Amino acid sequence: MYHDWFLNSLDNSDKEIYDVLINELNRGRRGLEMIASENYVSKAVLEAMGSVLTNKYSEGYPGKRYYGGNEYIDVAEQLAISRAKKLFGADFVNVQSHSGSSANMETYFALIEIGDPILSMSLDHGGHLTHGHKVNFSGHFYKINSYGVEKETGRIDMNKVEMIAKETNPKLIMAGFSAYSRELDFKHFKEIADSVDAFLVSDIAHIAGLVAAKVHPDPVPYSDVVTTTTHKTLRGPRGAIIMGKEEYEASINKAVFPGMQGGPLDHIIAAKAVSFKEALQPDFIEYAKSIKVNAKALAESLIENGATLVSGGTDNHLILLDISKYNMGGKIAERTLDEVGIFTNKNMIPFDTRTPFDPSGIRIGTPALTTRGLGKSEMKTIGEFIVKTLDNYQDKNVLQEIKQGVNELCDQFPLYPGFTALH
Ligand SMILES: Cc1ncc(COP(=O)(O)O)c(C=O)c1O
Repeated sequence: MYHDWFLNSLDNSDKEIYDVLINELNRGRRGLEMIASENYVSKAVLEAMGSVLTNKYSEGYPGKRYYGGNEYIDVAEQLAISRAKKLFGADFVNVQSHSGSSANMETYFALIEIGDPILSMSLDHGGHLTHGHKVNFSGHFYKINSYGVEKETGRIDMNKVEMIAKETNPKLIMAGFSAYSRELDFKHFKEIADSVDAFLVSDIAHIAGLVAAKVHPDPVPYSDVVTTTTHKTLRGPRGAIIMGKEEYEASINKAVFPGMQGGPLDHIIAAKAVSFKEALQPDFIEYAKSIKVNAKALAESLIENGATLVSGGTDNHLILLDISKYNMGGKIAERTLDEVGIFTNKNMIPFDTRTPFDPSGIRIGTPALTTRGLGKSEMKTIGEFIVKTLDNYQDKNVLQEIKQGVNELCDQFPLYPGFTALH
């Protein structure tokens, strides 16, 4: 009902944007969302986001605001904080970061000085831009050394990480990734960080939902600070949180506000609180387990059908497909998969000989489709669809046939079934 009201108002006042919303809803309904960093939030989360809380200014923190009228905003932010603390078992949580990138920037600003050395995973081996890439603030402000994966295994060799840490003496070690399909050994990262007197920051943007559900090793006991986006496997609104050990609470809070941000996004913070409550329910654990079961089933199907996977498989929610044997780059692969209704993203693979704009990999994830209700048998079918699409990317008839199959699959799993698309 809420959304009928929402869409009806928009329909009357701004038809162009109304159309964007309807078209996007329908695009989702007709396709398989397999971008590893995306998910579908609940209607409750959407309602909190599209709410009157967007109207409020509340610079500061609960009980210490620079504006009046924050008594209800304080309740929402406090709920978000206490639920996140319960979910992750952290000493403190700051729920105000606007995005994963700003959370990482705020964390660096809180812990180290401009020019200090950082050790992190390189982007082409699965790291994130904010872990020190040269086109990002992190690469400009800090001296970056990188670890990566081994060519033979596609996995991180912790002995190598230790060796590089000893050679480069980082002030901060970043454990985290955007495209790595195996688990991280946070305990070992902490031992290495301690041995060189560095902070350990874990960026669990991708795996936060798995960590919260305890189906992935937990970084919180070992890390000084943990950052995460809230919109990936955690299935909350677009945004981020920062958590960690008590001794860093004051400096993190200061780095977020007034260091980096002005007014917090109160509607988003309320939606974060809603999603944390959802993640504390027993069925979220089942959801997180299913993400992994589905990823494994998909990996098996891809391999059975002849695909090559970086590291040979997955232990989390994502798969990195090595498409170098096909006569095309990731740009065409992504576009062709898009055409049949399978949404993925082109991605660098370790030791890639192509460019980031047209790399040799495709990244695929199962969080969104698991939310939509698809299971192992559908993953088997989707694995077949993906390989058949890549094998036949120039054959319009085969692509049409796959698209038909994708549409039939989508029809069995309605997306946001209560929402009315009025045209
Ligand atoms: C590991 C990691 N950190 C940080 C980010 C940045 O998050 P945002 O896009 O919210 O800035 C991402 C986003 O993909 C990520 O994968």
